[in-house]
Amino acid sequence: MNKDKMPSHHGFKEKAAGIYPNETMKLLMERASCRNFSDRKIPDDVMNQILDAGIHAATGGNLQPYSIIKIQSETASRELGDMCGQKFIAKAPVNLLFCIDWHRLEKWARLEIAPFSARDSFRHFWISFQDTIICAQNICTAADSFGIGSVYIGTVMDIMIEVRDMFKLPKGVLPVVLLCLGYPKSELMVRRKLGREIVVHEEEYGEISDARLKDAYAEKYHHAKIEKNKERLERIREVCLKIHGNSFADECVADIENKGHISVAQRYFGLHYAADIMPEGNEDFLLIMKEFGFSWFEKYNPKGVQVTQNQGGNNEGTEDK
Ligand SMILES: Cc1cc2nc3c(=O)[nH]c(=O)nc-3n(C[C@H](O)[C@H](O)[C@H](O)COP(=O)(O)O)c2cc1C
Repeated sequence: MNKDKMPSHHGFKEKAAGIYPNETMKLLMERASCRNFSDRKIPDDVMNQILDAGIHAATGGNLQPYSIIKIQSETASRELGDMCGQKFIAKAPVNLLFCIDWHRLEKWARLEIAPFSARDSFRHFWISFQDTIICAQNICTAADSFGIGSVYIGTVMDIMIEVRDMFKLPKGVLPVVLLCLGYPKSELMVRRKLGREIVVHEEEYGEISDARLKDAYAEKYHHAKIEKNKERLERIREVCLKIHGNSFADECVADIENKGHISVAQRYFGLHYAADIMPEGNEDFLLIMKEFGFSWFEKYNPKGVQVTQNQGGNNEGTEDK
C-alpha cells in the first residue's frame, strides 16, 4: 500500500478494512493497552520467546543494564494490584517488573578488576532508563504477536521502597515500570493519537498554529466535554491559584463557566495529573534515588587520586557506542 494512504488517526474503521501493508504494521497500528485478562495462562515456551525478543532489543553500548522480575505468584500480583490501587494487575497471569540494573555490571566490573562509576553518572542513568523501556516495548510487541495483551503500570514509582523490599532488589537496581501480560478477555479499544502531521517535524521544529493545535487535540479526544460541578471547579481554581496566581485562576474558572464544561486539558492538568501535586515529591524522589544507590544528581567527588591527562590507557579499539 502507498505509505501516504496510511491513516495517521487510526481507529475501528481502518481496522475493519484491514488496509495495513504487512502483519507487523497491523500489529503496531492496532495495538492497545489491555486491562481485562482471561484466566488463560501464558505457556512457558511462549513467555520465554517473548522475553528473548525483549532482551534482543538495542541497548546503549550493548551493556543491557536492566533486569526483569517475572512475577507469576497470585499473592504477589494481588499485593502489587493493591499497592498500585489497580486491581486488574492481580488478574494478569504474568507481571514483569522492569528495573534499571547497574548492580550486575558493578559486580562484573569488580570481578574483572575494572573501574566503575555508573551509579554516579547521569549519562549512564539516562541511557539505562531508555534501554529498560526499549526492552519492555519489544516485549509488548512480541506478546502482541502471540495474541497476548499488555499494559504498563507507571505507578510503581510511588511504591519503589516497598517494591524493593518485596522483590529483594539490591543497591543499584531501580524499578522503572511494571508490565501486565495476559490474553485479553474482550476486544481491545484502539485509542486515537495525534497524527504525524502534528508530531513529526520536517527537518526542523515547526510551531503549530493555535487553532490547528486545539483542533488536533479536540479530534484526538473526540471533542470531549467534561461535566463541571462545584467540587471540580473549586479544585481547579485551587490548582490554578497555587501554580499561576489569582488572575489566572479567575480566567480559568470564567472560561469553564462560559463554555459550560471543563475541557480535556483542564481536566488533565487541573484534576487528574493536577499541576500542584505533580512536582511535589521531587525531593523525595532524589532521596529514593540515594536509597537505591544512585547519586548522579550530586557533585561528583571520586575517592581516588586525580590522574593527569594522557595518563589513562589509549583509546583505540572498536568499542560499542
Ligand atoms: C509509562 C507508562 C505508564 C503507564 N501507567 C499506567 C498505569 O499506571 N495504569 C494504567 O491503567 N495504564 C497505564 N499506562 C497505559 C496508558 O494509560 C495508555 O498507554 C494510554 O492511555 C494510551 O492507550 P493505549 O495504550 O491503549 O494506546 C501507562 C503507559 C505508559 C507508557
